[in-house]
Amino acid sequence: MPNKNKIIVTLSFLAFVTLGVAAVKAPQERNLKVLPKDISDEKLDSIMQTYNKALGVKCEFCHVKSKVYPGTDIDFRSDAEPMKENARDMMRMTIEINTNHFYFNKSIKPEYLNTITCKTCHRGEAFPPED
Ligand code: HEC
Ligand code: HEC
Repeated sequence: MPNKNKIIVTLSFLAFVTLGVAAVKAPQERNLKVLPKDISDEKLDSIMQTYNKALGVKCEFCHVKSKVYPGTDIDFRSDAEPMKENARDMMRMTIEINTNHFYFNKSIKPEYLNTITCKTCHRGEAFPPED
């Protein structure tokens, strides 16, 4: 009898570990509507850093605090912060200006062109003054 209990405990422990690892490893698809889906983590991060600098804000300006996993700070996939969609409009505008109004290197994805950038207009302000 003690042996059987031991086996049950061991098995349920193994199941717990296996399920736990599966949950951590489950691939979460990115919620990208403007940037290329195959973007690397490094490229995504460096672009986001340029937004912080150009607008003089923190990540939370466009990203909401996580409700699903309260321990993990920000839910970057969520679109709950309306400023994120405003930023997407600005990204589309910036891509459009670079693609259609400037000479550029055709080997670079239009989303990565930076003849003009957020900073060209924003210069450290989220709402650039009109003059
Ligand atoms: C000015 C607004 C803005 C700021 C500031 C900003 N982001 Fe973003 N972020 C966006 C937008 C818009 C998207 C979605 C882009 C798209 O749809 O292609 C995004 C997407 C992301 C994603 C991808 C999430 C997913 O779907 O998997 C990550 C990660 C991310 N941002 C991290 C950051 C970090 C870290 C910071 C601070 C260093 C930051 N962002 C600052 C607007 C912003
Ligand atoms: C051609 C100039 C220009 C460029 C380039 C530009 N912006 Fe803007 N942006 C503005 C102006 C002007 C405003 C203020 C609009 C207002 O107050 O109604 C603004 C406002 C915003 C706002 C505040 C919300 C809103 O829609 O009013 C966000 C967020 C923003 N820009 C993000 C960005 C990001 C991110 C980039 C780069 C991908 C960017 N902008 C590039 C001119 C620009």
